[in-house]
Amino acid sequence: MGNTTQSYRDTWAEVNLDYLYDNTVSICKHLPDNTNVFAAVKANAYGHGDIQTASTVLEAGAHGLVVAFLDEAIALRKSGIIAPILVLGSTRARDAGVAAEHHISLAVYQIEWLKEAIPMIAPNDSLRVHIKCDTGMGRIGLKESAEVREMEKILLASNQLFFEGIFTHFATADQHDSNYYQTQLNTFKSLLSSLKTRPTYIHAANSAAALFHNDAIFNTVRIGIALYGLSPSEEMKPLFPFQRKEVLSLHTKITHIKQICTGESVGYGAGYTATSDEWIATVPIGYADGWIRKLQGQEVLAEGERVPIVGRICMDQTMVKLPRHMPLGTEITLIGAQGTQFISIDEIAEKLETINYEVTCLITPRVPRVYVRENGVGKSVSMSRKE
Ligand SMILES: Cc1ncc(COP(=O)(O)O)c(C=O)c1O
Repeated sequence: MGNTTQSYRDTWAEVNLDYLYDNTVSICKHLPDNTNVFAAVKANAYGHGDIQTASTVLEAGAHGLVVAFLDEAIALRKSGIIAPILVLGSTRARDAGVAAEHHISLAVYQIEWLKEAIPMIAPNDSLRVHIKCDTGMGRIGLKESAEVREMEKILLASNQLFFEGIFTHFATADQHDSNYYQTQLNTFKSLLSSLKTRPTYIHAANSAAALFHNDAIFNTVRIGIALYGLSPSEEMKPLFPFQRKEVLSLHTKITHIKQICTGESVGYGAGYTATSDEWIATVPIGYADGWIRKLQGQEVLAEGERVPIVGRICMDQTMVKLPRHMPLGTEITLIGAQGTQFISIDEIAEKLETINYEVTCLITPRVPRVYVRENGVGKSVSMSRKE
């Protein structure tokens, strides 16, 4: 994850770190002063590359990072990141000592877990924990004030555990109808009022809540999708409070081109048959790269024009119908801009009948990430592709 190893392939995802930096600055500016922004860099930063993403957002003003699993947090620590990191999901109690050793904070939501975890932590170490409250997401978390109070009591009594934070997660913050959101917020406030102390970080807001509601900021927010220049939902798109810039684009190059005659077919199942003499180009990307078979028929960009994918997408290759001959090596953009044309991540999500989050997460590690940073300190362009 996150490493720029050398690649010899004409397919790459470009990650524009200048855009990521700008989106982060815009988010920080939009929030009340002194709000701690924890950037969600789980799942390899939603497919963008965890280490490069983390370094950029921290430089742009993020205070800390959130991930889903301890493995992800340790990878970030090993890369030299010293900012606070919180694991949002489940961690095995027997791994509590490892988390403490790496100064990684964990979400906690079971009393039995605490009892099992305490003996795993070295005598001189202390594990930072955030109490997770389930106010309506129905996933993980404590639901009752009495449970929260009991957990706080155990935390305050233990030298091995440090009560660093408390949080919840919204299920519907990205929808116009705010009834369910308000109920969750009220439940969280009521759970907070049962505490005797105030931990350092109190957080509820994801991108949608932080950008489109102003009543759930507390002193900390957890922002994912908006950093990457994407909207949490179609509904929220027109309300976006700043000019967002999509960070990830996806590209490949023509590796073969041929003219086929009327009646000739292309791909597995001979799924496409030419109705006239046609130019067909082959590009080296397929479903094993996350460019999945449901994208058959999707348009891509060649010489600034929209052209269709024809036939079934193969594991490693895809065929495209061109309006004319184009040279080998011509760049094909699957996501992003060419000339005046733009294929957004949302367009791909719509074709796949899914959400933009899933599109970027789907792009597999086989696709090298190329990091572009032109305006930042040092003006670096980190290329993981061998041209
Ligand atoms: C617990 C939690 N907090 C924050 C986030 C970030 O959400 P978003 O990407 O919508 O900002 C997520 C994303 O899945 C999450 O699960």
